[in-house]
Amino acid sequence: MRETDYDLLAEQIRALAETDPWYVPLLANAAALLFDAMEDLNWAGFYLLRDGKLVLGPFQGKHACIHIPVGKGVCGTAAERKESVLVPDVHAFPGHIACDSASRSELVVPLFYSGDLIGVTDLDSPSAGRFSEEDRKGVERIARTLGELLEFP
Ligand code: SME
Repeated sequence: MRETDYDLLAEQIRALAETDPWYVPLLANAAALLFDAMEDLNWAGFYLLRDGKLVLGPFQGKHACIHIPVGKGVCGTAAERKESVLVPDVHAFPGHIACDSASRSELVVPLFYSGDLIGVTDLDSPSAGRFSEEDRKGVERIARTLGELLEFP
């Protein structure tokens, strides 16, 4: 499988943020870039924190769960811990929320803005064990880049 070029992704996100850093277009294009740049994904996108729970944000893939309580599923666990969660096999993760039954592995990375958690980046693959530690570090870097550049209400 082709490795993802996270340097290139970060550059592309910087260029997009120069045009408009508003979180809606920036996260929408970031979801599209991640979905294109990372092989073997069936879903890539964001959940954003609103009134204490995660709400579906910009994404690529099949329609998905709209609300995820903090502490539930892989996304809610990453939000609660404020740290990345890499799940090699979702069938072995208690409480995994199956939005797309094709998903077999998942990587969720928190998104911070001005030091506060504002949501998570969620990546799903139909292959077990799709995500490596390199991917975790790479997506954390992308989430950091987004958090530094975006304008959020
Ligand atoms: N599987 C996620 C829910 C979101 S979808 O994968 C898009 C979870 O367990 O949090």
